[in-house]
Amino acid sequence: MWHTNTITHLLLIILFCILSQSTTATDFNKSLEAKALLATNWWVGENASDHCKWHGIACNEAGSVTEINLNDHYLGDRPDMGNLDFSSFPNLVGLYIESCGLEGSIPVQIGLLSNLTYLSLWANRLTGNLPVSLTNLTHLKHLDLYSNNFSGKLPASFTNLIRLEYLSLSSNKFSGSLPISLTNLIHLKHLDLNSNNFSGNLPVSFTNLTHLEYLSLSSNNFNGMLPLGFTNLTRLNNLNLSDNNFRGKLPVSFTNLIHLEYLDLSGNNFSGEILDSLTNLIHLEHLGLSSNNLSGNLPVSLANLTQLLFLYLSKNQLTGPIPPSYGSMVNLRVLDFSTNQLNASIPTEISNLKYLETLNLGDSNFDGPVPSNFGNLSKLYFLNLGMNSISGHIPLSIANLINLQQLDLNHNSLVGPIHGNLSRL
Ligand SMILES: *[C@@H]1O[C@H](CO)[C@@H](O)[C@H](O)[C@H]1NC(C)=O
Ligand SMILES: *[C@@H]1O[C@H](CO)[C@@H](O)[C@H](O)[C@H]1NC(C)=O
Ligand SMILES: *[C@@H]1O[C@H](CO)[C@@H](O)[C@H](O)[C@H]1NC(C)=O
Ligand SMILES: *[C@@H]1O[C@H](CO)[C@@H](O)[C@H](O)[C@H]1NC(C)=O
Ligand SMILES: *[C@@H]1O[C@H](CO)[C@@H](O)[C@H](O)[C@H]1NC(C)=O
Ligand SMILES: *[C@@H]1O[C@H](CO)[C@@H](O)[C@H](O)[C@H]1NC(C)=O
Ligand SMILES: *[C@@H]1O[C@H](CO)[C@@H](O)[C@H](O)[C@H]1NC(C)=O
Ligand SMILES: *[C@@H]1O[C@H](CO)[C@@H](O)[C@H](O)[C@H]1NC(C)=O
Ligand SMILES: *[C@@H]1O[C@H](CO)[C@@H](O)[C@H](O)[C@H]1NC(C)=O
Ligand SMILES: *[C@@H]1O[C@H](CO)[C@@H](O)[C@H](O)[C@H]1NC(C)=O
Ligand SMILES: *[C@@H]1O[C@H](CO)[C@@H](O)[C@H](O)[C@H]1NC(C)=O
Ligand SMILES: *[C@@H]1O[C@H](CO)[C@@H](O)[C@H](O)[C@H]1NC(C)=O
Repeated sequence: MWHTNTITHLLLIILFCILSQSTTATDFNKSLEAKALLATNWWVGENASDHCKWHGIACNEAGSVTEINLNDHYLGDRPDMGNLDFSSFPNLVGLYIESCGLEGSIPVQIGLLSNLTYLSLWANRLTGNLPVSLTNLTHLKHLDLYSNNFSGKLPASFTNLIRLEYLSLSSNKFSGSLPISLTNLIHLKHLDLNSNNFSGNLPVSFTNLTHLEYLSLSSNNFNGMLPLGFTNLTRLNNLNLSDNNFRGKLPVSFTNLIHLEYLDLSGNNFSGEILDSLTNLIHLEHLGLSSNNLSGNLPVSLANLTQLLFLYLSKNQLTGPIPPSYGSMVNLRVLDFSTNQLNASIPTEISNLKYLETLNLGDSNFDGPVPSNFGNLSKLYFLNLGMNSISGHIPLSIANLINLQQLDLNHNSLVGPIHGNLSRL
């Protein structure tokens, strides 16, 4: 026999469930939502009686707006978010206003969208600081503010956005150092801060972001050494630190980042030798080390990176020779050794790189002849051998380079004519 008290309890619980269920479903005012949408003047010529069917609007079964999704859509002359009454949309999960010419700043009231999970405002003309209230949106998983004119520092309270998986602030004017609290966003998979004016060292706790697959800090003013343990971010597929002021030796433990396909460290002050350990990164397709302070010989083992399409080593202090084994990087499209101190002749094995489109060996102290089989590089589009001490005759086979659009042989000791239709260049 059930005790009456237990039954009463059960009934109460069931009743409570039904009540709270219906609260989530009805806790909105349909005509208020319609009124708020109309007030923006972003929808003209739509059927006034059913805003759930308007372009870019999605509603739940109860008829409450869950999504506003406008992409490359005309919102009138100089639209801004000032007329969007955020308090009217308790069930809004996704707000996407992309490439619509939005001006002004993000209103403080955005903090009222307590259930917002996706906020995407890329490619508008938004300005100003991010309102601190933005960090009230603790359900956010996806925040994309790419290509606007936002400025100022990131609020420390960014740490509240603990569910974030995707954060892009790239191509804005954000500045200051990263709040250490940012590294509490341990669910981040994609973090793109490129092309801003961020500065300072990377916090040691960056190493907490172990779910990162995509990290771009490119084109900022970050400086200092990479924090120890940075290379614990073993899920990284794309790492772009180019055009900053990072310095110091590359950590040997770079070898941990075995999923890397794109590694761009160019335009920094990294020094020391190119690590043998890089050759464990067998999935690399792009290796950019140009414009640093790297020295030492080109490592023979680099030839193991047979998936490489792009290899940029220009503007360093690297010394030669080019190991003949480099001829086995058969997928290379671009090979750039320019402005180094290679002090060696060009190995004939270079001619095995039959997909090469760009070969830049300019200004690197090459001597000896141009290999006679250079004509095998039939896809070459750009060839720079200028500013070296290359000697001898220009090989006949060069006439086979039918795709060549740019040829620089200046400042060498070459003799004889340029053959075939290359004399057109
Ligand atoms: C819903 O909003 C309208 C204004 O659009 C208002 O007149 C009405 O009283 C509201 N209803 C409720 C139940 O709050
Ligand atoms: C507007 O929508 C309502 C309800 O869906 C429908 O009855 C009415 O015919 C529509 N009016 C126009 C002009 O399409
Ligand atoms: C918040 O959104 C989720 C869907 O992502 C929905 O299930 C839930 O009912 C919403 N909560 C409120 C209070 O609107
Ligand atoms: C943000 O959250 C704080 C504290 O929870 C609250 O006081 C404030 O009113 C909220 N702001 C907005 C715009 O929602
Ligand atoms: C940002 O502002 C500059 C002028 O300060 C302007 O030239 C540029 O077009 C703006 N960019 C965007 C995306 O609005
Ligand atoms: C970038 O930030 C530095 C300070 O770190 C400041 O001196 C400089 O003016 C800023 N540049 C721009 C373009 O905002
Ligand atoms: C982040 O890293 C710091 C030190 O590097 C550590 O003290 C902290 O507990 C870490 N936080 C999380 C959430 O893992
Ligand atoms: C790194 O980012 C810059 C933009 O700042 C871009 O031009 C470059 O192509 C990126 N490198 C790679 C390998 O994607
Ligand atoms: C990096 O990972 C190793 C091995 O998992 C661990 O021992 C070390 O503490 C980590 N370093 C940092 C700085 O998190
Ligand atoms: C490298 O460091 C030197 C000396 O500290 C500095 O003058 C130079 O601007 C730096 N270069 C880059 C690209 O950061
Ligand atoms: C460049 O590298 C050399 C030798 O590796 C080192 O002595 C020098 O300090 C480095 N310069 C900078 C600006 O890092
Ligand atoms: C990498 O290259 C070196 C020298 O060419 C070779 O001894 C080594 O076995 C290669 N490693 C792998 C993993 O292929």
